[in-house]
Order: sequence, then structure tokens, then C-alpha cells
Amino acid sequence: MRNQGILKATNFVQELLKNKIPTGGTVIDGTMGNGNDTLFLYKQVGDSGKVYAFDLQVMALENTRRIFRENNVFIDNKPIQLILDGHENIGNYVKEAIDGAMFNLGYLPSGDKNIVTRPETTLQAIKSTLELLKKGGMMSLVLYYGHPGGIEEKNSILDYVGQLESKKYLVMECSYINHENNPPIILLIEKK
Ligand SMILES: C[S@@+](CC[C@H](N)C(=O)[O-])C[C@H]1O[C@@H](n2cnc3c(N)ncnc32)[C@H](O)[C@@H]1O
Repeated sequence: MRNQGILKATNFVQELLKNKIPTGGTVIDGTMGNGNDTLFLYKQVGDSGKVYAFDLQVMALENTRRIFRENNVFIDNKPIQLILDGHENIGNYVKEAIDGAMFNLGYLPSGDKNIVTRPETTLQAIKSTLELLKKGGMMSLVLYYGHPGGIEEKNSILDYVGQLESKKYLVMECSYINHENNPPIILLIEKK
């Protein structure tokens, strides 16, 4: 069956990461939100893998627990760690090499719109994640930047990833060129 909506940002990054994340792999969801990517990542790595998911909002952890329950996955017995902390602190929790990571920046549509990702913490998270990434591993970032401060965050990320050493990383930017109102930008970083 054709995958409808594959060019939707969230579907697109999942389709790409599917090829990168093995059963038994270790992965990070840097922005848990409603848990959609956390669930996707768990389905990729399975019970022999490990998922670390971060968010600042209690609501994100609750929503993520709910989406897992609705999918008949009972987190407590699973290798899934839902962490109520900022992704800038990834290094305090993840001590092993990872196969992939996903970040969807911005705010949680159903949550507190004042809680947004911010340039300094996002850059710290990207740096920590790239250090943990295995060779051949991939990190995705979906940049939503319509909120106050969003453009500054987008620009600082593009500046940073645009200067990553090309011998070590392949960095790709995908954007929607026929949309108005700050359509998301997708960044894919593969470690060589
Ligand atoms: C666009 S939403 C993520 C959507 C999520 N991927 C999903 O599938 O529903 C962005 C999330 O980032 C969270 N966030 C903001 N700053 C953060 C930080 N420093 N560390 C971790 N999460 C953060 C927000 O609370 C929000 O839930």
C-alpha cells in the first residue's frame, strides 16, 4: 500500500529513520510531547532495545504513557525511560552510544504554548546527541518556528549544523517551498 502523506514532516523523518534504527538499538526522543515519536522509536528497537525520551512537561509524560497504553504497550516492563528533564541534560542520563535520535522543536500543540524549545538548550542537546551517535547513525530535527523566539532558534541551529565538519557528518535540509506561514524545516544529520 502507498504511504499516504509521506511528505508530511513527521512521517518523512520516521520513514527515513526506519532504515537506520535496528531492532535492539538505542535511541533518543529529545522532545517527547504526545509520545508519537517515542512510540515509533520503541516499535523500531523493540524489547531488546532502549528508548530515552525527554520533556519538561508532566503533561508530555502523561500523554506519552497514554499513547503507549492505547497501543497495548505497558511501559513499566519495557526498556523505555520517560525523563522529566530538559534535553540539554541528555549527557546525565545516556551513557551509551545511540543509533538515532529525533527532535521536534517548538511547543506542544495541546500543552502550554509558553513552554518552547530554546536556542541555547537545543544547541546543547544537539551537541550531546551528536557525541553519542554511532557511525552511520542518524539524528532528525523538525523545526517549527512560528512562535516568539522561533526564528532565532531556527537560525542558530542552521548556523551550527551548517558548520559541522563535512568529513564527520552529512547534513541535509528539506523545506516546503510552496507553503506560507513558517512551514517546518527538516534537518537530517548522519554521522559518517
Ligand atoms: C513539538 S512538541 C514535540 C512533539 C512530539 N514529538 C510528539 O510526537 O508529540 C515539542 C516539545 O518539546 C518540549 N520541550 C521544550 N523544551 C524542552 C527541553 N529543553 N527539553 C525537552 N523537551 C522540551 C515541549 O514541552 C514540547 O512537548
